[in-house]
Amino acid sequence: MDLEAAIAGRRSVREYTTQAVHEPTIRSLIDAAIRAPSAVNQQPWTFTVVRDQTMLDRISHAAKSHLLAAMPESRHSGHFQSLLGDPNFHIFYHAPVLILISAIAQGPWIVEDCALAAENLMLSAYANGLGTCWIGFAQGFLNTPDGKALLGLPDACVPVAPIIVGHAKAVPKPVPRNEPEVRWIG
Ligand SMILES: Cc1cc2nc3c(=O)[nH]c(=O)nc-3n(C[C@H](O)[C@H](O)[C@H](O)COP(=O)(O)O)c2cc1C
Repeated sequence: MDLEAAIAGRRSVREYTTQAVHEPTIRSLIDAAIRAPSAVNQQPWTFTVVRDQTMLDRISHAAKSHLLAAMPESRHSGHFQSLLGDPNFHIFYHAPVLILISAIAQGPWIVEDCALAAENLMLSAYANGLGTCWIGFAQGFLNTPDGKALLGLPDACVPVAPIIVGHAKAVPKPVPRNEPEVRWIG
């Protein structure tokens, strides 16, 4: 697929079929991820592939509790509270795979590096007929000692980009973009 078409066509997918994503495909997505640039070519990333649905259920449950507990009282109302308090809301939307990109090295740009790898992975998935969504809801819990222990990640590891991957049930509508604010100097 043409790169421009992939950039224009990628959407965050929140409804998946139960069709599995096979290991060679997952490996090819990770291969695209590691083509991303990284500061001083440090390549600080490590990838955790979670296909165990019981594990994803556990993380979803723990992440929702973590978010509700961490949310200031003033925000304990409205959309997020009802979403996170809903026992039927699964933060991973029952996707068959979660690929968590974490930083395993120290440095000032490890988060940027992992985010660049994540975008490569999402575009490559789209070009291969797969849907993805970055699940920020998981990040708080995954960054706790309990979250890292659950996935066998070392304490020094920094989970950055939890990306779900699967076959989209339907093509999501495009989400509108604002006109970019651009300052031209010269
Ligand atoms: C850092 C980050 C965190 C996000 N967290 C969530 C999330 O927890 N749940 C979710 O459904 N979508 C999440 N998204 C997806 C955004 O809602 C989505 O990218 C945005 O609405 C634009 O839609 P598009 O990706 O289809 O263009 C996240 C995206 C990013 C970049």
